[in-house]
Amino acid sequence: MYTYIVRGGNKLNGSVRLKAAKNSVLALIAASILTEDDVILKNCPDLTDIANKLKIVNSIGAKALCGGDDIFINARNARNTGMSAELARTLRSSFVLLGPILSRFKEAKIYLPGGCRIGQRPVDIHLDALEKLNVKITNHETYLLCDAREMRGSGVTFKFPSVGATQNVMMAAVLAHGTTTIQNAAKEPEVVDLQNFLNAMGASVAGAGTGTIEINGVEKLHGAVYTPISDRIVAGTLVLAAAACGGDLTINNACPHHLNALFEILKDNYCEIEYSGDTIRVRSDGRLNALGEIASEPYPFFPTDLQPQLTALAAVCLGNTGITEKIFENRFGHIAELKKMGAKIYVDERARTALVQGVDALYGAEVSACDLRCGASLVIAAMRAKGISVIHGVEYIDRGYENFEMMLRGLGADIVRVQECKRKPLQKIFDK
Ligand code: EPZ
Repeated sequence: MYTYIVRGGNKLNGSVRLKAAKNSVLALIAASILTEDDVILKNCPDLTDIANKLKIVNSIGAKALCGGDDIFINARNARNTGMSAELARTLRSSFVLLGPILSRFKEAKIYLPGGCRIGQRPVDIHLDALEKLNVKITNHETYLLCDAREMRGSGVTFKFPSVGATQNVMMAAVLAHGTTTIQNAAKEPEVVDLQNFLNAMGASVAGAGTGTIEINGVEKLHGAVYTPISDRIVAGTLVLAAAACGGDLTINNACPHHLNALFEILKDNYCEIEYSGDTIRVRSDGRLNALGEIASEPYPFFPTDLQPQLTALAAVCLGNTGITEKIFENRFGHIAELKKMGAKIYVDERARTALVQGVDALYGAEVSACDLRCGASLVIAAMRAKGISVIHGVEYIDRGYENFEMMLRGLGADIVRVQECKRKPLQKIFDK
């Protein structure tokens, strides 16, 4: 178990270079089992979520390994042995293997991923759509048996633009007889990236990013060497950190247009954001006006994965900010921890809204991350706070941020990672 110790007050100055997006790489690893040829994914970050996905793919017989920033996968020897419940539970995104397994093996036994800290995370949209593609699904409480021997293309309309369901259906349809059209599909950049990767493998997919995706089934897919899009959530986290702490930060290898909704929120405030090509530059004095009324919604609107980090910034803005979480039913776990640091936030759980009254300063405290974006939010608050903070639960942060403390130290933050030892309570640190 690891902990961060952060002494706040430093500005963030310098530049960083983004790696591939976790939420794209996870989908592309799943897609790699659609072919018996070699697949290489380049510029990938070293994250526990990615390591766990590779472990799952290895567990069904594929050969998956990392070499530096490249991931090599060959699924020629993959067998439909069904992934273990234990492995499936380590990663919710394992459920997005269902589509490719059905395409490749025509049947699957898959464990239901279950809920997590931020919500119930049902999979009804995935299953309804697969049944429309003539997949026979029997529910055995904790797992499903799926028979896709008669799977064929069809029209499906999602009740909600689910990212995972869009990716699952794209990968189920890509080798099916006939054409599949997904209406109300997710428009996230990671869905567009999956389309581009599948087409690089010889698929025929069009429309990703528009809400309507058409997949014409093909006979076979071949290997590919592919560089996924960079991580817009890591980029957005850094933009919010620089806005909160102040400084002059340049982010390279970015896709600025993926962050238009965030830039819209921060414009005309005491935070200058310039971008051109693949570079974003943020300059801030660390004291912004309140951010207005913000709601997290499906892309291209403001992303739920930046909501906790934006809440940390709002906590030190001048005035009140209203935040509504419209994607997940329980994504305010960071607020109780921010309040330990002196944030003034009033939550209406039922309405899923938080009223953030900006304060002049936050103060160091001992806090705990409850999921990866909550962890990122607490790091931003701790870097802005006066005094020393201790952040437990760094293992959550490691799921989505590669060497986060090293990246931030390189920008001037005073943050160290320590291994928790039962003997010496961390309280000693506060006794100084
Ligand atoms: C993906 O999760 C991301 N994860 C999440 O990022 C992200 O927050 C989410 O999309 C929304 O953008 C990965 O890509 C690995 P959804 P996913 O299906 O696909 C409901 C992070 O921090 N829903 O779009 O699971 C669901 O309950 C993670 O990196 C159904 O009701 O998200 C939720 O309220 C967290 N039925 C909403 O839709 C379904 O069958 C969005 O879920 C599926 C989803």
